[in-house]
Amino acid sequence: MPVLTNIATLVTCRAEGGQSALHEIPEAALAWDGDQVRWVGPEAELPDDWADAERLDADGALVIPGLVDCHTHLAFGGWRADEFEQRIQGVDYRTIAEQGGGIASTMRHTRAASEDDLAAKSHGFLREMARLGVTTVEVKSGYGLSAADELKLLRVYRRLHQEQPLRLVPTFLGAHVVPPEYRDDRAAYVDLLCEYLIPRIADAGLAQFCDVFVEDTAFSVDEARRVLTAGTEHGLRPKLHVDQLSDGGGARLAAEVGAVSADHLEYTSDDGIRAMAEAGVVAVALPLASLYLNQPPMDARRFVEAGVPVAVATDFNPGTAPSYHLPLALTLACTMNRLTPAEALKGATLIAAQALDLDDRLGALEPGKQANFVLLDAPTVNHWLYHFQANAVVATYVRGERVD
Ligand code: NIG
Ligand code: FE
Repeated sequence: MPVLTNIATLVTCRAEGGQSALHEIPEAALAWDGDQVRWVGPEAELPDDWADAERLDADGALVIPGLVDCHTHLAFGGWRADEFEQRIQGVDYRTIAEQGGGIASTMRHTRAASEDDLAAKSHGFLREMARLGVTTVEVKSGYGLSAADELKLLRVYRRLHQEQPLRLVPTFLGAHVVPPEYRDDRAAYVDLLCEYLIPRIADAGLAQFCDVFVEDTAFSVDEARRVLTAGTEHGLRPKLHVDQLSDGGGARLAAEVGAVSADHLEYTSDDGIRAMAEAGVVAVALPLASLYLNQPPMDARRFVEAGVPVAVATDFNPGTAPSYHLPLALTLACTMNRLTPAEALKGATLIAAQALDLDDRLGALEPGKQANFVLLDAPTVNHWLYHFQANAVVATYVRGERVD
């Protein structure tokens, strides 16, 4: 039953008060038992029950809930630094994809990689993410694009979840793009997803969510509806990549199918935002993707003002967002997506947990929640996200244990 004392400020990120309310406690203490938070409050009010507990000294740190990265494509073969240079020289993302690069290029490298290779590479990413304060990571398949290779990616995630301390939340993204061998028969690929893969993945408990990339280079709204309906019938809750390169009506689809989140949203119309607000869909801002594609970012203010909670994630992938630096994404969510630092932090804690349907257990520091927390060398949340450092994290705890 340890107690962390000498915390300059503890940021609870409790739900009440919406996106901007952080509920900070000055000169705080945090007590936990096993993997659960038992008490938070001003250190001077620490109850006597904790008088003999083991004390850990936070040395004046700022303490925040463990960060939740609610959108990544963690496991993939190869990299795409060549395309990074091509884009800088003026070849755009779609053109690269039409020439067989982009997602199809990562697909070839992923198919060629063994489960061991993919696990070892992702393991390294997760270790670095823990050092950056990340404690929970949503992980998508979507670079296999065949039955065997999509199952391979999801097995890699299951293994990683068991072998290292961060919680992984797996999402099936077989509908990322239509693979080349199905180019002339898209319907057969959608059949493979709906009739073969989704039932098997659900039966084996290999994913919790089902995601579709809705774009003219990927899947139509009608195809996405079919895939997400099949997913829902098998207990996989819907998520969506929408309106990243154009307004394709994906936000309205997210509302219609009751998606837990809709992600990207750079080109979403006011109508789409209203529909998301009414249906309670979380919006996920991915500023690193806008930064790397040099595109107008999603305007998070329009969503917050319409009553849509906005999460912030990295979108870590080898193409549009080759970085898992969630604190950098938070700084960019302020400068590019126009969230305040407080809103950005809540977007990568409680609201990110909501985008994974885990907000009853994660994302805030209050009794009963999991003891996932981060010690930061920063005087305030504003200062942390304003003065960008390589890494302000002093220590990361998951389920009450130090993991960095
Ligand atoms: O979220 N939008 C689709 N998927 C990824 C990009 C994948 C890639 O380029 O490899 C994204 O940005
Ligand atoms: Fe993505």
